[in-house]
Amino acid sequence: MSYIEFKGQDGTFSMENPENYTGLYFPIAGEKGLKSCVTPNLGGDSKTDQNHFLLEPVSIENLHNNKSTRNFWCNIEGKGMWSATGVSAVQESDKFTEEQDSSKLEAGFMWQSVSRKSMKFQMKSKITSFVSIEGDAEITMIELENISEKEQNITFYPAVALYGRSADNIRDHRHVTSLLHRTVVKDGIITVKPVLSFDERGHQKNETTYFAGAFDSDGVCAEGYFPTVEEFIGEGGSFLNPKAVRENLPGVKEPYSVEGKESIGAFRFSKKILSPGEKLTYIFTMGALEKGDDVKNVVTKYNTLESAKKELERVKKYWVEKVDIDFHTGDKVNDNYLKWICFQPVLRRIYGCSFLPYHDYGKGGRGWRDLWQDCLALLIMEPMQVRKMIVDNYCGVRFDGTNATIIGNAQGEFIADRNNITRVWMDHAFWPFITTKLYIDQTGDVEILFEKIPYFKDMQISRGTSKDTEWTTDYGNRQRTISGDIYQGSIIEHILLQNLCAFYEVGEHNEMRLRGADWNDALDMAPDKGESVAFTSAYAGNYVEIADLLMHLKEKCGYTKIEVAEEMLVLFDRDVSMYNSVVKKHAILEKYVELCRHNISGNTVIISIDEICDNLREKAEWIMNNIRNNEWICKDETKGWFNGYYDNHGNKVEGYDDNNVRMMLTSQVFSIMSGTATDEQIKSICNSADEYLYDSKAGGYRLNTNFREEKFDLGRMFGFAYGEKENGAVFSHMAVMYGNALYKRGYYKEGHKVLKTLLDAAKNFSTGRMYPGIPEYFDNDGRGMYTYLTGAASWYMLTVINEVFGVKGNYGDMVICPALMPEYFDEKRKAYIALNFAGKKFVVIYTASSDYDIDNIKVKKAVVNETLVEPDNKGVIRITKEMLSNMEDNRENVINIEL
Ligand code: G1P
Repeated sequence: MSYIEFKGQDGTFSMENPENYTGLYFPIAGEKGLKSCVTPNLGGDSKTDQNHFLLEPVSIENLHNNKSTRNFWCNIEGKGMWSATGVSAVQESDKFTEEQDSSKLEAGFMWQSVSRKSMKFQMKSKITSFVSIEGDAEITMIELENISEKEQNITFYPAVALYGRSADNIRDHRHVTSLLHRTVVKDGIITVKPVLSFDERGHQKNETTYFAGAFDSDGVCAEGYFPTVEEFIGEGGSFLNPKAVRENLPGVKEPYSVEGKESIGAFRFSKKILSPGEKLTYIFTMGALEKGDDVKNVVTKYNTLESAKKELERVKKYWVEKVDIDFHTGDKVNDNYLKWICFQPVLRRIYGCSFLPYHDYGKGGRGWRDLWQDCLALLIMEPMQVRKMIVDNYCGVRFDGTNATIIGNAQGEFIADRNNITRVWMDHAFWPFITTKLYIDQTGDVEILFEKIPYFKDMQISRGTSKDTEWTTDYGNRQRTISGDIYQGSIIEHILLQNLCAFYEVGEHNEMRLRGADWNDALDMAPDKGESVAFTSAYAGNYVEIADLLMHLKEKCGYTKIEVAEEMLVLFDRDVSMYNSVVKKHAILEKYVELCRHNISGNTVIISIDEICDNLREKAEWIMNNIRNNEWICKDETKGWFNGYYDNHGNKVEGYDDNNVRMMLTSQVFSIMSGTATDEQIKSICNSADEYLYDSKAGGYRLNTNFREEKFDLGRMFGFAYGEKENGAVFSHMAVMYGNALYKRGYYKEGHKVLKTLLDAAKNFSTGRMYPGIPEYFDNDGRGMYTYLTGAASWYMLTVINEVFGVKGNYGDMVICPALMPEYFDEKRKAYIALNFAGKKFVVIYTASSDYDIDNIKVKKAVVNETLVEPDNKGVIRITKEMLSNMEDNRENVINIEL
């Protein structure tokens, strides 16, 4: 049985009785402003940021505890109360019985529509929810239909409680903050403007107005209002059995105002007589607007059926067009899932990691790592915006190679860390280069490397181990020179500085120190002696790639030298005796961080590209050999893997004994991706991963084996139940990166298995219980957890485009080198991908010829528009920048590839 049915190719899907499954919610948001989520029963919340929640904040467990967030009631004469959202005491008790309403959800990017049919009340409803593109209102269209053979007298009561304050007040001063509420009824709208934003450290005058307006299809407002919860639910009442609806109360008339009460946007419309088959539609709008915004103007923009429908059409078109990538494979369902995966990075740009029910951590914004990885996907869909994003994000790098971790709301806004305990994630410096390199490959814009930008400065110095007591807020958040000027360095300087500082911060085994954690945030209890071999490999990979990039600059673009800050000379040490000496490395790092304690000199030096490349390659080679020699765990002739960590006692974390195998996926991913693992080793790693980590029921490759130890000397992850989240779940992000690394090294059959098992797990609703997309992880029961907001989506999309379909950028050229397995082709042996590249539209059509060989996939013939393009001896097609620029802008360029 298929639970999710797709309609076309743009991801729109439908599902029967979605309320019978736990934890389903759907994102609807604007480009800015409101970020909402809606469950099938219209639960879920809405907010603009942590301090401005229009509806009461919810975490995943609240979704079944309190479903009555947005309720649209009908008092049906002679029958009683029916909730068009399915949430009344009666409907709750009818659930799972024959009396249950039947319902059907239909949804697409940023809109949801739920139809409901009640045999008991002889009513049907269709409720469509979305947020305007500007994010100034969440709009709901409620259609009611009389399906009985007789007339029905109906009074409509929309009711949505307006929380109107900070998420912090959900428990902290919940009642006191309601005393701040000033609620007014005017022009058919209920507004709440709290007097203060409550904060015991210093209350702020509040400027935000929360509002709700309800209208019939012609924009005519209600005749009665219930602006407070107590008036609406009545003494002893509840949201499942509100007195106002039960007793058909008239409510108050406008104008009206009330102070110091929990507010609600509850309305009473005049009684309507619905003949058999007759329909009625109402529009409900709500939002949170800052000073100067005019609530009435916003509400009247959307308050008729016509204007609401118009906005809905705009919304549908806008978000579908955002994902300007199309896949056509032999499987329509997969194509639609891929659409959703491509949309997920857009969702994370909007929601961060804090604003959907599973994602209740933090107070908004994204982490440093997420910032960079989300750019990966966005730069394929929105390349122009991403250039600026990359440049702005580098402004968060400190001169000691660490970075700001408190990220502001605006792009490029980083906030000073005043904590006494700072956390340094040792992987942070790894990601910016990966993103920048992809950007350069897609666009050929090497000039970005020479863009000059400042460094971040706050109190934290010496890689988070000391404080700059001279630093004050007046100094500001930009690194200055001794003459007081803000220092500006190129992006390539930022990259070198970040990557080189990491080289010297090693632990006793000469692998980079784990510090606060690496990619795995939950490896957070080994700050002293912990080491991350996994990311030491990763950095070595960066050194090689940076050297390749610099060589390209020299050979193809005529650059011979790079200008860097004088202090950085220390980091280019090449003394051979330093490599094996932890002490010498520490001394170098010590010397460097001492030079940039407060101000830097402002002087620069010029280093030849040849010297930098040799330097980086030497460092990479030393690291890779060191890891190959000291961290390889050879279980038997066919199995082996890399140890990726040392714990806080300085002991190797991975290995095996008679009772237990300890293996972690992350360690393998970066050794493969960076080139540290040899081909022989990759084979052994794959065998071991298949034997110890692969679990088809759980959705693929687990993050680690069961250590059966609480391991307080490594991280909180060992406190999680095994098979959950970072402790051995099938964690999509690392699984996808495993797939990506395998494809990159030419192991595409193995890579394909990784991608396929993940997608199959997500598609299998009977265990996954999730709407289309890829989740952060699958739990022990195979349930998709933490849906929508995961870095896995960016990497999945990238792997499918760059590796599976094999369309990638190479310094602005388009290179095509596919690794399509047979199931990607349709019955006519064709598959295609449509995407934009270099500002032009492309559709790349692949045909599997009769002698198509999956052991040796090669392009046999390529025709670009009408021109034949010869593959090179490896079967790779290259369309140069020049050829690309000669293509017309407004046509669809067709590339036919025969395999
Ligand atoms: C999340 C975080 C990511 C972190 C990962 C592992 O993954 O967002 O930064 O590296 O957990 O701790 P995500 O939800 O992006 O898949």
